[in-house]
Amino acid sequence: MDISNRTVLIVGGTSGIGRELARRFAAAGSTVAVGGRDAQALADLAEEGFGAFAVDVTDASSVASARDAVLARYPDLDTVVTMSGVMLLEDLRDPAHFQAARTTIDTNLLGTILVIDAFTPHLVGRGAGTFVTVTSGIAFLPFPPMPTYAASKAAVHAYSEALRAQLDGTGVGVVELVPPAVAMPGEEQVNPRALPLDDFATEVMDLLSADPTPGEILVKGVLMHRWAERDGTYGDLVAQRSQALSMLPGRQG
Ligand SMILES: NC(=O)c1ccc[n+]([C@@H]2O[C@H](COP(=O)([O-])OP(=O)(O)OC[C@H]3O[C@@H](n4cnc5c(N)ncnc54)[C@H](OP(=O)(O)O)[C@@H]3O)[C@@H](O)[C@H]2O)c1
Repeated sequence: MDISNRTVLIVGGTSGIGRELARRFAAAGSTVAVGGRDAQALADLAEEGFGAFAVDVTDASSVASARDAVLARYPDLDTVVTMSGVMLLEDLRDPAHFQAARTTIDTNLLGTILVIDAFTPHLVGRGAGTFVTVTSGIAFLPFPPMPTYAASKAAVHAYSEALRAQLDGTGVGVVELVPPAVAMPGEEQVNPRALPLDDFATEVMDLLSADPTPGEILVKGVLMHRWAERDGTYGDLVAQRSQALSMLPGRQG
């Protein structure tokens, strides 16, 4: 894809990976809007020159209103990124985890579906465009402290594949971004294995720029997760990652 002339909406663009990719698309020459709930972050991004739209992806009427406002201002919108997501720890030995499970599915899976549904008629109607969905290395190699998160991202992977097949022939493509652990600026020490945001974003924009854009955006750091099952490393890696269960509050002491 030519990243220099797109009109992009990043839902979940108010912080982290989404905000950085918004800045990268804009720096490359594209017109960029972001969506999210955080009013201060939206105001700051509007100040930076981005279109900024309040949206809660767990609320269908909020998504519909945001869609109407975005398309009124950007009738040439051609790229929609479904970045919104929550990453919650859950202790499955405590049934109280269910609220976290519900929030995770409502945001990561149903939120993705709502946003895609909201913009599908527009993109199909113009006969060209791209949905960029966002999963995780954890979709392919579970991280046991975040069980519903892993399930939600595996679901978005499967959904993306079906969406791509269903939109085939409409001119609308589906690209799945699969981040590994990414470290935000100043947080590099928290998980030394995480990829610094800046390096991650550079690799992602390079991969997106390929023509044709691959169906999955896989930076080098996520290949071990993506292909663990094929490579026969899955069992060992899940066991290794299960050691992180000790980080759950109920398992300490
Ligand atoms: N960071 C990583 O290591 C990593 C690894 C793999 C995959 N990912 C995925 O990448 C995406 C971005 O993660 P991040 O690390 O950049 O996290 P982040 O900084 O917490 O960003 C999450 C974004 O989602 C938005 N969001 C959350 N709930 C929402 C809701 N109900 N309605 C609308 N927007 C909502 C937030 O906006 P508001 O708060 O303004 O609503 C924010 O813009 C997520 O889907 C995450 O699962 C991250």
